[in-house]
Amino acid sequence: MKTRLLLTLGALLSTTLVNAADTSQLTQETRGAIKALAAELKSTLQSAMKAEGPIKAISVCNEQAPKLAQKVSNEKGMEVARTSLKVRNELNAPDAWELSVLEQFEQRKAKGEPVAAIEYSETTQHNGNRVFRYMKAIPADDVCLMCHGANIPGALSAKLNQLYPNDQATGFNKGDIRGAFTAVKILE
Ligand code: HEC
Repeated sequence: MKTRLLLTLGALLSTTLVNAADTSQLTQETRGAIKALAAELKSTLQSAMKAEGPIKAISVCNEQAPKLAQKVSNEKGMEVARTSLKVRNELNAPDAWELSVLEQFEQRKAKGEPVAAIEYSETTQHNGNRVFRYMKAIPADDVCLMCHGANIPGALSAKLNQLYPNDQATGFNKGDIRGAFTAVKILE
């Protein structure tokens, strides 16, 4: 009886330890994928803003961002995307899990946690699969405010309204949570 209890405890403990090790490796892997996407997005956006101005740079966010996300997703064997509580493109709207994590991020920010450090991960069910899900908050920086701030220049604003008649992603201030990177990896 005692032996069986100990064995059960041992098995439980080792499963927990294995899971902890898996999760930390998955977290590292996912952080890497998101870092790669964030770096590609930032450099593509900055060079387009410099070379062609903000109106042309809209296409970076509009066409390049989904392509870059797809490229990183393929390379890293997981789905990586961006979402927000206030989306410009409805295709980026959060699902129920993402919505609750985004709300949790706002609460953590309100309690003083630095936005750049806010992340969350969980092993859960998604579309019938056991998955590892991860999200990382994206701070609104100066370069973002041109297209997501309170005073978007007229011509730029007109172009954005034309492309996104239901745009909610304006009025942000520096340091706000603009949105989050979100990743899903299907586990065996
Ligand atoms: C040149 C204008 C422009 C700039 C500058 C810009 N964005 Fe965007 N952003 C857009 C457009 C256009 C979309 C919609 C993309 C789409 O259709 O998927 C978008 C979408 C997003 C989304 C996806 C969620 C949503 O609202 O649909 C996030 C997150 C985001 N931007 C964050 C940022 C951050 C952070 C910065 C600064 C580093 C930034 N953006 C700078 C134009 C811009």
